[in-house]
Amino acid sequence: MHITMIGSGYVGLVSGACFADFGHVVTCVDSDASKIERLLRGEIPIYEPGLDELVANNVKQNRLFFTTDLTPAVRGADAVFIAVGTPSRRGDGHADLSYVYAAAETIGRALDKFTVIVNKSTVPVGTGDEVERLIREVNPKADFAVVSNPEFLREGAAIEDFKRPDRVVIGVEDERAREVMSEIYRPLSLNQPPLVFVGRRTSELTKYAANAFLATKITFINEIADLCERVGADVQEVARGIGLDNRIGSKFLHAGPGYGGSCFPKDTLALLKTGQDYAAPLRIVETVVAVNDSRKRAMARKVISALGGSVRGKKIGLLGLAFKPNTDDMRDAPSLAIVASLAGDGAKVYAYDPESMSQAKPLMPEVTFCEDPYQTAEGADALVIVTEWDAFRALDLDRIKTLLKTPVIVDLRNVYFPPDIRKHGFAYVSVGRS
Ligand SMILES: NC(=O)c1ccc[n+]([C@@H]2O[C@H](COP(=O)([O-])OP(=O)(O)OC[C@H]3O[C@@H](n4cnc5c(N)ncnc54)[C@H](O)[C@@H]3O)[C@@H](O)[C@H]2O)c1
Repeated sequence: MHITMIGSGYVGLVSGACFADFGHVVTCVDSDASKIERLLRGEIPIYEPGLDELVANNVKQNRLFFTTDLTPAVRGADAVFIAVGTPSRRGDGHADLSYVYAAAETIGRALDKFTVIVNKSTVPVGTGDEVERLIREVNPKADFAVVSNPEFLREGAAIEDFKRPDRVVIGVEDERAREVMSEIYRPLSLNQPPLVFVGRRTSELTKYAANAFLATKITFINEIADLCERVGADVQEVARGIGLDNRIGSKFLHAGPGYGGSCFPKDTLALLKTGQDYAAPLRIVETVVAVNDSRKRAMARKVISALGGSVRGKKIGLLGLAFKPNTDDMRDAPSLAIVASLAGDGAKVYAYDPESMSQAKPLMPEVTFCEDPYQTAEGADALVIVTEWDAFRALDLDRIKTLLKTPVIVDLRNVYFPPDIRKHGFAYVSVGRS
């Protein structure tokens, strides 16, 4: 199959490279010329484990191409995937669909034979209908079908998730499109993930329901963590105790500083707006959003209280800034709110992250960036673990202790085991454990 991917970001580039690896011929398009130039030079504009090798191999095999020129890329394709951003619209939280609609119009003008247009971006219910209408408006004679195929990959494990998905959801209303989609995903049949064919609107809503459910699970365990702290229980043991129940499952039960990233915050908000638009309010998700917002500020208060109630003039070292390990993505990372609160209260904030510092620098002008965890700890009144990178799991604690001005560790990801770390003489504060 010839596939064109519009948008070569976290989703478009990973999906494009994986489809090429399955044997399809893929052209990745992006309107950002500097991104395409870097890709053509063999550079990967984002950090995603294994992606550099996957891209290089498929470029070498002549199955993966990059361009800014959408029209010829669309004309040669059996299927054109839209994988552009759908951020929160400023002001009202609706998904901003302007990138999707702009891509749809340009695709529409280029169509000259039957083509399947696949929405891989996360889009509210009814977007497929609007994409179809727009294409018809710009090119009334076009022969096409619009499909919804939301992406469920996780940054940091994106290639594995794409190649071995739990399921592939495909919202399709047209038999020819269904055949094309089956053929595109046929290479997955060895691993036998269910291809879940549903209506287009059902598919669009499934993506939001999945993200809202996972955000709810995280927020639930975060509130249980707060209760654990009050009653002297251990949230990790509670999570294990409930997670071993197959009806609940152990994933997404790690207490921490609140969910962030490029998806959950914007997708929960967009789902709320859809609920309001259709007079079907989603009160659980409303509460999840509110609880998660306040949690990020509460994490800064946790640091402040670990330092006796004031951080004015104190030096605080942060380990990890990305919203989770194995990515450089800073979108809606909890570290943003934590840095703003601590710096706003007069702290001098130092930080280190293995991959996200170039993305973080413009977002955190008040922060001094360090070269490694030990430089971050030097002379600090407290060291705060914000993101659970593997590199922070086995720090030389004796060295850290000699570097810190006061031996305080605030572990917002429960990376360490309290008795172990206290043995080294630290004052240790974690989440949901006493
Ligand atoms: N990042 C994730 O983990 C993830 C997971 C599942 C779903 N999604 C969804 O996938 C979509 C894309 O997310 P992302 O994280 O890859 O975004 P991104 O910002 O990393 O990438 C989007 C790319 O699209 C390009 N673009 C925008 N308009 C264009 C146009 N008209 N023509 C060509 N290129 C254009 C941008 O330059 C950018 O490179 C979003 O809807 C997101 O919600 C993301």
